[in-house]
Amino acid sequence: MVHELIYYGHDTLKKVAREIMNIDGELLQLIDSMYNVMYRAKGIGLAAPQVDVSKRLFILDIENDNKQITLEMLNPVIKEFSGKWESYEEGCLSVPGISKEVVRSVEILLSGVNRDGKEVELEAGGMLARVIQHEIDHLNGILFVDHLEDYMRKELRPELKKIKKMNRLS
Ligand code: CO
Repeated sequence: MVHELIYYGHDTLKKVAREIMNIDGELLQLIDSMYNVMYRAKGIGLAAPQVDVSKRLFILDIENDNKQITLEMLNPVIKEFSGKWESYEEGCLSVPGISKEVVRSVEILLSGVNRDGKEVELEAGGMLARVIQHEIDHLNGILFVDHLEDYMRKELRPELKKIKKMNRLS
């Protein structure tokens, strides 16, 4: 099973992804394959819809408070949000070459299921919280550029048009 990145404009990125009902070999393969895609593209987070699989799953591998954190989460839900972190420029493997400031919560309480099917809860702050919010947006059909003001998205239109075409080339 080979998974490839899809880009801005692709239908799968606009859909609300489906809940994962069972963890089988295929799903575990998907997770491993997603790590390959993410590391190859030098990303720090990846949601399943970004490889054209409409399932509620994301992975991440980031440095947070001088610690390397690797996390994979199935059916993730943010239960609590607090604070407001205004100015940080986000990027996305599905929107290559563009980065813009997006407002996110500073701290979140995340719950979900790990690859062993165990319910897990996690308090996250800072960069970790930001990446999680970005990835969960993907599961709801939202890209970071969707958070921008209309005038900003208008400015990006030529670039976004080019990115859209990458879907047909690959
Ligand atoms: Co993204």
